[in-house]
Formats: sequence, structure tokens, C-alpha cells
Amino acid sequence: MTDKYAQLVNQGIGRNVARKLGLPRPAVLRRYRPGQALVTGPVVVQGDSAAADKLAAELLTWDLDVRRHAVPREKLGAIILVLDEVAHPEDLERPVLAAAGSLRDLDAGARVITVSRPAAEAGTPAAAAARQGVDGFLRSLAKELRAGATGNGVLLAEGVEVSSPSALAAVRFFLSGRSAFVDGQFLTVSGNGGSLPDDTGRPLAGKIAAVTGAARGIGADIARTLHRDGATVILVDLPAAGDHLAAVANEVKGTALQLDISREDAGRKIMEHAVQRHGRLDVMVHNAGITRDKLLVNMDQARWHPVININIAAQLRINEALLASEHFGPAPRIVSVASTSGIAGNRGQTNYAASKGGVMGMVRATAPLIARAGGSINAVAPGFIETEMTARIPFALREIARRANSLQQGGRPGDVAEAIAFLASDAAGGINGEVLRVCGQNMVGA
Ligand code: NAI
Repeated sequence: MTDKYAQLVNQGIGRNVARKLGLPRPAVLRRYRPGQALVTGPVVVQGDSAAADKLAAELLTWDLDVRRHAVPREKLGAIILVLDEVAHPEDLERPVLAAAGSLRDLDAGARVITVSRPAAEAGTPAAAAARQGVDGFLRSLAKELRAGATGNGVLLAEGVEVSSPSALAAVRFFLSGRSAFVDGQFLTVSGNGGSLPDDTGRPLAGKIAAVTGAARGIGADIARTLHRDGATVILVDLPAAGDHLAAVANEVKGTALQLDISREDAGRKIMEHAVQRHGRLDVMVHNAGITRDKLLVNMDQARWHPVININIAAQLRINEALLASEHFGPAPRIVSVASTSGIAGNRGQTNYAASKGGVMGMVRATAPLIARAGGSINAVAPGFIETEMTARIPFALREIARRANSLQQGGRPGDVAEAIAFLASDAAGGINGEVLRVCGQNMVGA
């Protein structure tokens, strides 16, 4: 589905009219294409800590133009604020005001990234206040940025240094066009696992990945993105979607598995398919999901049961089967698709939000179990994404939902797929039990 309004106000007469009337003009986002430069210009690393020095040195090895101070009126690709040592709210003043002076120089599609530590792990009330202050600061700044620029934060848990593989991988993801529709979000790096981020453009080379609901929408784009990044993909969907499934499977040179994931033996079937063809499974992406919207006052079992069964109970059963198998991994990865509805709630979606809240609960509780096998599990929570599902929303409601985020537009299925491909990669091994929103900083439950 295309966003005709965004197209109109970004070209010719439409652009001039929108400018004169002060209408929202959603920017064309800087999305990843293979071979694209990581950022559009110099990267300023601000902060006085040893971590700031270390990060600046690492970024130099990525062939970036790294500065420790901004030069006025020079277009910047990114500002990285290293705030890992803030111990009192007053410590924020100097680095934050230094960054403020450079904001006007940010290029279109630029990035602002904070690197800090989780407030929950702070040793004193003042340190917790400073760390939580970074959260409020970044989320507000992200709402002020323009021209497709985004602001996101990396949180380093206790014992994790800025040079640990997944911390660098998270910085790289937020700098890149892969995170175009991720805005105002924090990602915690909780472990030193994972490998250094890969700049070959094929971070999933050699991986065997299964994707459910792959016949269309977000799932089809997940399959395409994993394939582009080097994975061999097993595409799972209902027998009724067999033709579409076969077409996408052919396109990505993968194999199709016609399967209703709500079957009791779905996990075994997926693993059998993977083992017969490839000897193992590395990555499981739980994408298939359904809606049966109704106000709770009119809810019945025919709408409640299948939503819970397909969206979460099936994932629990499949995970149990995969985690019991010796053929899952080494370094198994699970990525589940949740939804901002499961975070903020949505009128008419008590069943769906219960299922998606369930996905997030499941991910957090499964994280320590899969960590024992050297693996990780995370969720991606999309906001408004342009798919057949959202095309069915009545026009006026759809227009409101689409604009109600900092980037003033809906995301594309590929935006969700990029986040999933990142979390499935070896470099993200130190990120476990996280929920990453891909929602353009949706105002709903922000
Ligand atoms: P879609 O309806 O376009 O595609 C879902 C796919 O899952 C279909 O191909 C369908 O045949 C398959 N599927 C359904 N039940 C199945 C079952 N029992 N077994 C196997 N396959 C089954 O949906 P869309 O929009 O691509 O959504 C994908 C995921 O993203 C879902 O989990 C959805 O809840 C989630 N999501 C979507 C958002 C959006 O804005 N489109 C926002 C937030 C979350």
C-alpha cells in the first residue's frame, strides 16, 4: 500500500502548497540499500569518558569521518553522546548543551545516539536520576528532530563495555539505514556475547532461518531481507496461502512449508523440514499473526481463542519443541513479532493485545533459558506498517494512525524485517530478552 499524501507533499507543486499551508511533510526516510554508506557525513562523538574515546577509536576502524567536536555549519551524519558516567542530573548539562549547538547542522536522515547505563542498575538515587534523565531527554529530542533524522539509545548493562560486540552492533544498527523507522527507542546490551558487526552486507551468510506467515505482508519481506543478508530461508504459511508462499519461496531461493502453526506438532514439523534439507535450524522468526477485532462487550470464543492460539500459544509450543532439539543452533536465535498494541493497548483489540503482550512476556522469560544454549530471543514491536492488514482500516482512522508518530508516516514491512535481521545476526548475540519498537516513535504508548 502506498502513502499517496506523502508522495504528493514531497514533489513539485504539492511540496510548495504543503509548505505554505504548514501541512505535515513526512520526509523520505534514509533506508538501507546494499552498498550504501553507513552515514551521510561526519560523526561527532561527544563525552569525556574513557568509553567515548574507545568508541571514537572503534568508529575510525569503520572508515567513518569521526570528530570529537563539531565544526559549526558542517553537515553532520550523526552525533553520538556518550553518557555512561553520568552520576548526577547536573552532569547532563555540558554534553547535552554541546550537542544542542550542532543540531541545526544535522543532515537529512542523520542519527543522534546516546550511549548510557540502565537506571535500574545505578548505585545511588542521584545516578539513577541522571540515567533515567537520559531516557526522557532522548525520547524528547527524537520528537524534535526533522527531515527523517532519528534519535535512539544504547544501554550498556553492568559488565558490558562500549567496545563489546553487541554494543558496537547496536550503534551500527542505529547509525545505518536499517533502522530508518526506529525512533525514540532504547536497546539494552546485556551480555558480552556475539561477534563483531559485519560490514560485508551478508551478516546472515550460512544461516538456516524459518519464517512463519511468509506468504505475504511483513513475513514475505522478512524472508526477502534474511535472504538478502545471506540466510537460507524456510517459508512457512497456511496451505490456503500455498500459491503466494511458493512464489515468495522461489523469489528468495528458499523452500516452502505449508503448515498451520496452531497444530500441536508444528514445532516438530518445522524442525523436521529444516533437518532433512539443511541438517539444522539457526533462526526462528515468529511472524504469523491474526486479528479478530471486537469490543470486549461483544467478544466471543470464536474471536478470542484463535487470536491467542495463533499469536502466542503456537509460539510457546514451537519454542518448546525447538529448544528441546539438538538441531537448533549452535547459537540459536528466536525473533518474535509483537505489536505496539500489546504495549499501549488498543480499543477493540483486547484479544490481540493480550496475545502480543504475551509475546513480550514469553520473550523475557525465555531469554535466560535460551542463553544457556548460547542463544538469544527478542521481539520486535511494529507500530503502523503499510500492509494488507492496515489497508483494511477505514480511511480517516488510517490517516490518523499513519501520521501519529514522530516521522509522520507509516513504516514499511521492510523496516520491521531489517530490525529482525539485525536481531537474528551473530553480532546481536549480547542482546537478549529485549523488545525493540519499530514504530517511528508512535505517540501511542510512547
Ligand atoms: P498479514 O495478515 O498480511 O500476514 C500474516 C500471514 O500469516 C498471512 O500470510 C497468513 O496466511 C499467515 N498466517 C495466519 N495464520 C497462520 C497460521 N495459523 N499458520 C501459518 N500461517 C498463518 O499480516 P502482517 O500485517 O504482515 O502482519 C505480520 C505480523 O506483524 C503479525 O504478527 C501482526 O500481528 C504483526 N503486526 C503488524 C502490524 C501492521 O501494521 N501491519 C503492526 C503490528 C504488528
